[in-house]
Amino acid sequence: MAIATQTALDLDFPILEQEGLVYLDSAATSQKPRVVIDALGDFLAHHNANVHRGVYPLAVDADQRFNAARAQIAQFVGAEPAETIITKNATEAINLVRYSWGSQNVGAGDAIILTEAEHHSNIVPWQQLCAQTGAELRWLEVDHEGMVSLEQLDGFLADGRTKMVAVTHVSNVLGTINPVAEIVARARAAGAATLIDGSQAVPHMPVDVAAIGADFYVWTGHKAYGPTGIGILHGRREMLEAMPPFLTGGDMIKTVSFDDTTFNELPFKFEAGTPPIAETVALGTAVGFIAELGTERVRDHEQAITAYALDALCRIPELTIQGPSEAEQRGGLVSFTLDCAHPHDVAEILGRDQVCVRAGHHCTQPLMKKLGVGATTRASFAVHTSTEDIDALVAGLGRVIEIFGD
Ligand SMILES: Cc1ncc(COP(=O)(O)O)c(C=O)c1O
Repeated sequence: MAIATQTALDLDFPILEQEGLVYLDSAATSQKPRVVIDALGDFLAHHNANVHRGVYPLAVDADQRFNAARAQIAQFVGAEPAETIITKNATEAINLVRYSWGSQNVGAGDAIILTEAEHHSNIVPWQQLCAQTGAELRWLEVDHEGMVSLEQLDGFLADGRTKMVAVTHVSNVLGTINPVAEIVARARAAGAATLIDGSQAVPHMPVDVAAIGADFYVWTGHKAYGPTGIGILHGRREMLEAMPPFLTGGDMIKTVSFDDTTFNELPFKFEAGTPPIAETVALGTAVGFIAELGTERVRDHEQAITAYALDALCRIPELTIQGPSEAEQRGGLVSFTLDCAHPHDVAEILGRDQVCVRAGHHCTQPLMKKLGVGATTRASFAVHTSTEDIDALVAGLGRVIEIFGD
């Protein structure tokens, strides 16, 4: 059952009209609804001009559409437009914080806390910062159910050396939904800054950035039914005001003389060069699409699909599921291994039947090591995922077992 049958809303994804296509790789990138494709094309065909410079009507129109889209994106997650910075992707947003905030706030003897389940995008920037400054990385362990321990967090925070706690909202492998508001509150009480990686959360559940209260919250447009080339950093105003620019050049300045430069106000101070204009407009349409469906309904649907998938997959004796056993503790994805076949073989054989899943380390090599596996197969869900899609996955796994099993 797709969400459309629950909500009576029309889910029009042109790519899913391809005969037999079963797309279970939305955690890698989401497919795009027709309204988003149309918004991108419509902007380029009828409204295209650069922003922040032209005074002719077409440029004023482009400016207005760009500003309205930023406001819509911010409002969607309960953030302020001035505190909503447009980047290239989530990875660049994290690097912005690492370079700009990190250069002023982290030094030898300080500590940065990550979980063992972070995506490389939320590991490597901090690892590099520690290597350059002499700060220490501390890893919050994930247990056999994919959960982190708040007691271990408190233990790490107790010596007052922690400058940053950077945690994923939803793990892209385990699916675990972390208690991010609680983590933020504990970190703040200990004087540490916080960054939440919401890349796997924003399109799948209600997210209220203000209620979570993190200093920085990042996500990425292409996983949220938007185009590639756009990511979002929400930052608390006082943090962003105090930080130096990340990239420098056009657009991020107020004045430039032969000797000196003064910087633009927020959010432009962190947006050097021409921004992804059409992509921002299209992401505005994408969040409007999710808002129209209703974030609670999206979450209910994906939780129901996840429960259905967990139930079906745990009946396969050769299969081991990673992460929490309950769908309510998970986002809309399930990673697993099969005793008899390598994940790449699993994905390749499923692909022969047009069942699209991801196989590999999912940019989480430290987590793979912790789990004691080289790779997993991951099926991930979206608003268009139906129980029939899960049935196709299970049937395909049956064929994999026929080929590789004893
Ligand atoms: C949890 C998580 N964080 C960050 C990223 C990086 O996103 P992007 O490649 O769009 O920067 C991903 C992408 O897979 C992700 O799953």
